[in-house]
Amino acid sequence: MSNRPRATAILELVSSCRPGWSLPQDFYLRPDVFEADLRLLEDRWVCAGHASEAPAPGDWFTTELGAQSAIIVRGEDGVLRALANVCRHRGSRVCVGPRGRGPLLTCPYHAWSYHLDGRLRAAREMPDGFDPGAFGLKALPIKVVGGLVFVSFGADPPPFGDAEPALAAMTALYGWEGARVAHRESYAVAANWKLVMENYHECYHCGPAHPEFSVLHALARPNNRTLCAEPDPKTGLADFEAWASIPDGRETARVMRSALTHGALTGSADGRPLAPPMGPAGARWDGQCVFGELGFLSAFLAYADHGVIYRFVPRAGQETEMEVIWLVAGAADAGRDYDVERLAWLWDVTSRADKRIIERNQAGVASRAYEPGPFSLMEPGTQAYVERYVAELARRADGL
Ligand code: FES
Ligand SMILES: [Fe+2]
Repeated sequence: MSNRPRATAILELVSSCRPGWSLPQDFYLRPDVFEADLRLLEDRWVCAGHASEAPAPGDWFTTELGAQSAIIVRGEDGVLRALANVCRHRGSRVCVGPRGRGPLLTCPYHAWSYHLDGRLRAAREMPDGFDPGAFGLKALPIKVVGGLVFVSFGADPPPFGDAEPALAAMTALYGWEGARVAHRESYAVAANWKLVMENYHECYHCGPAHPEFSVLHALARPNNRTLCAEPDPKTGLADFEAWASIPDGRETARVMRSALTHGALTGSADGRPLAPPMGPAGARWDGQCVFGELGFLSAFLAYADHGVIYRFVPRAGQETEMEVIWLVAGAADAGRDYDVERLAWLWDVTSRADKRIIERNQAGVASRAYEPGPFSLMEPGTQAYVERYVAELARRADGL
């Protein structure tokens, strides 16, 4: 549905952007921009988690974005489906909480119950002529690549095809299809989601803010583009594949191989292994890691022995959740094969530091004295991200 005054106001704001500079203040503060952002993000793909979180029929977990909620559920037929978490009676959430299991999905309000594939099974005391076949839970688009589960809240999301090869290469190299979740943490960041994503896309701040990360990762160095320049011989995964521009709204993924330094084999305090190796890359312990991402809100980090999923969830105009999920090989046992505290250490300490610096960024951006500033040579990822967002906002302004 077109909202002309809002579209005009947003296009005016877009025209005030200066290439190579950070965004004007209104992008981070105006409620109408946040509303448009949510529409834009809901129509694309986001990572909901890992397929191992619902291993057996009846297992489900939920994922949210703005006012939207999806149930990711494993059916009797073993197929993973995404269903809108909205009861077809009078609209209650059906599944409450992050995860659960059961033979049916039963609405807690008036107890309508649904089969695991979304079909309505039973509704009490309905009038003659009521057709249960017309009241199944709505199906949402879902895609599973190498164990990663992606959903969209849009009826017609962009084709996944452009994004899939890069994600498939990364997940195959690190055996993510057979992985399982070892740990998860959630970080509430009091900042607009774009400040969180801008921070994620540059390592200009890594030196000052992340001493633990910087000692291990070549990415923290100014000349990191020259490191790890050879594509992986087996998968063709290249160093620093740039974002494709998406003027026509296709979904995009990026993967980027990068070297570890000082002989480190993984992202641990001493560079030594944390868990059993994962996939062919783990078998080689090649001193590399891979950073990956999909669309606007999902990011991944693969080491030889563990993986990290970053799920960024805008909650309100100046409130964003960062959920971090740690993966290990499916056969690895906590205590015997890995220690959760050691495993989670690097990205926990890094996420806590990011929360602090992003919240200070939000505080400054909200002040009268804020004006856009120029990007450094170490912020091309953030500049590309911002340009991609602004182009998409302008392209879709009429329909948001
Ligand atoms: S709203 Fe779900 S049964 Fe009434
Ligand atoms: Fe950071």
